[in-house]
Amino acid sequence: MRAASLLDLIFAFNGISNPSFRYVMSAECRAAKLPVLLDGLPVRREPCEPRQGCRTLRPMLLRSDNVAGVSPEILEAISRVAAGDMAPYGEDPVTIELQARFAELFERDCVVLPVSTGIAANGLGLSLLAGPLEAVICHRSSHIAGSEAGSVEFFSNGARLIPLDGGDGRLTAHTVEQFLSQTDLARPAVMRPRALSLTQATELGTVYSPGDLRALTEVARRFGLRTHMDGARLANALAALDCSPGDLTWRAGVDVLSFGATKNGAMSTDAVVIFDRDLAQTVARRQRRSGQAASKMRFASAQLLAYVDNGLWLRNARHANRAARRLAEGFAQLAGFALCYPVEANLLFARIEPAIVKSLASERVAFRPRDAMRPEDSEFRLVTSFATSDEEIDTLLAACIRAQQKSARQAVG
Ligand SMILES: Cc1ncc(COP(=O)(O)O)c(C=O)c1O
Repeated sequence: MRAASLLDLIFAFNGISNPSFRYVMSAECRAAKLPVLLDGLPVRREPCEPRQGCRTLRPMLLRSDNVAGVSPEILEAISRVAAGDMAPYGEDPVTIELQARFAELFERDCVVLPVSTGIAANGLGLSLLAGPLEAVICHRSSHIAGSEAGSVEFFSNGARLIPLDGGDGRLTAHTVEQFLSQTDLARPAVMRPRALSLTQATELGTVYSPGDLRALTEVARRFGLRTHMDGARLANALAALDCSPGDLTWRAGVDVLSFGATKNGAMSTDAVVIFDRDLAQTVARRQRRSGQAASKMRFASAQLLAYVDNGLWLRNARHANRAARRLAEGFAQLAGFALCYPVEANLLFARIEPAIVKSLASERVAFRPRDAMRPEDSEFRLVTSFATSDEEIDTLLAACIRAQQKSARQAVG
């Protein structure tokens, strides 16, 4: 792509991928000079002639890796299994191949269940470890604690979450041990902790090393807890740590894994991976009851196979991590921008001076506050993906430099 201004990026030409409609910024949006980049898009869609080579909106949305599209390899894999009849509900040859492929990938026998979302993977996976009168220890900033509307409670028929604190999004073995040793687990008033849930990479963009994980799961086991990993961004953690999938999961003591794929190139599937067959006895019924047993499971399984084939998942994750590092290095050079946590995967949190945030609006850049209820906090979350280009990052950084210079001039004047 040629060097582009910010507005060029918003209105980049694209006559190939979807030529029958275009997006245009609404008049109200232009008049109000509303920021359109990175967040809400005040635009409308209108039809146009396929041969016109329409201008298609190309917004850069760093609010989440959920905004990215699908890797072409995965789309091709879906279409390859589209023809012909196959047995439903996971009895198809594609899902059977998936079991063998994941056993090879993780270097261990395992049960793999494709599910439609990361939340379903977490709820279903944790329901195997904690029942209605039991509890799950997790980080206070974990997705299960703050963003899943009680999904773990729902899937487990009432297990309670116990959120603990930990710097940079990580729990430590010490914190977990302290909590467990100071709780009277025999008291009927206490919901007995039975599972520890760890997010890899964490919600704050840091990662647990295999050593961190081993220390945590050792404490958990000692107190009778099994370990679940929310691996919505497992590939990003693997890419950051350059270790094997087995090293970062079952070899480090993880019993059940939520295997993320959608954020990193798949279209519509994640999976639950169970490393201990004894834990899997009820899972098929639980999957059915929760509406997660897809009748045409071959399409989910084909996505997961293509995702790991030829290292696609790691290539995509390395790309996303590199984009986050590029952004972090740019921010680190800028006065008024402070990184909140180490940038180890594809999430970046930055504190930005309010005057700069205001100047950014005239550059049509709007960052998303980490806490929408407290926008005055000036802490922003940016997430890169396999589809984020260097040029987009550089264009964004150039806008940040201009905004920073403008606010510095205004402060002097
Ligand atoms: C760490 C983590 N776990 C789980 C999820 C849930 O994934 P989904 O939105 O696909 O259900 C997310 C989504 O953002 C996440 O960030």
